[in-house]
Amino acid sequence: MGLGELKGRDLLSIADLTVEELQAVLDLAAQLKSGEKKPHCPQILGLLFYKASTRTRVSFSAAMYQLGGQVLDLNPSVTQVGRGEPIQDTARVLDRYIDILAVRTFKQSDLETFADYAQIPIINALSDLEHPCQILADLQTIRENFGRTEGVTVTYFGDGNNVAHSLLIGGALMGMEVRIATPPAYQPDPAIVALAEKVAAPGAKIVLTEDPRAAAEGAQALYTDVWASMGQEDLAQQRIPIFQPYQINGDLLALADPEAIVLHCLPAHRGEEITEAVMEGPQSRLWDQAENRMHAQKALLVSLLGIS
Ligand code: CP
Ligand code: NVA
Repeated sequence: MGLGELKGRDLLSIADLTVEELQAVLDLAAQLKSGEKKPHCPQILGLLFYKASTRTRVSFSAAMYQLGGQVLDLNPSVTQVGRGEPIQDTARVLDRYIDILAVRTFKQSDLETFADYAQIPIINALSDLEHPCQILADLQTIRENFGRTEGVTVTYFGDGNNVAHSLLIGGALMGMEVRIATPPAYQPDPAIVALAEKVAAPGAKIVLTEDPRAAAEGAQALYTDVWASMGQEDLAQQRIPIFQPYQINGDLLALADPEAIVLHCLPAHRGEEITEAVMEGPQSRLWDQAENRMHAQKALLVSLLGIS
């Protein structure tokens, strides 16, 4: 199966890709990063972000400009959708002007409405449920470090929400052992776990646990995210003692494989979900991971626009 089959499709969940398509996007991302391929893509990408963003906003923009395309910032604070114009209407209008749209929002159902009413590809640039673009870069980073994803063990520590969800599905698709270590009330959505189990490649393994130390044991990648996501800022203080045992620190890292790498989607809160020493230490791959957002999303844009 080639990348051609992705033309015109949406990416609302990482499960929207088959394992072959995901592998093809990651292969292309590596070729774009090395400079082996330099496609030209003179199209228009719209960014409609209801939440703050540095990496996703800038990496999508830089990727599109490097491809020879244009980017329109459709910030809801300056477009009518922010004043209540229905998504159904906004989607049909934007569809007439631009070629592809990345949306960062709260409800997954808003993304589905955009996809239902626009013919152009809609990309989930983060919702409360998933962060598929992040996981493309994470898988690229894991492949760069281990030469493969199959059989690699990644442990995610923290809140079982959007990033954990996409990691669970994407890792299962790619034949990884994905361990999710969360406090009891913060486990991943059971529907996402069921989806990950459904799409899992032979050899993939999913482990949900409340025991961070057992989850770290022998893992090859340790991954974390903030303890209070965007929209949950008022819960941040009360969550600190609940999530403290799940902090990636030197003690937890010492339980992992000696060659383990450390990942974080960023932005990070030093001293909360990850210590400064680990973040800046030799096992950190945070900056490569952030860079790979641009290469992986460039591969995604090219694929959904049918350029390659
Ligand atoms: N990791 C990530 O999506 O970062 P931003 O919120 O800065 O886009
Ligand atoms: N879980 C975080 C990810 C940020 C990239 C959030 O939703 O805020």
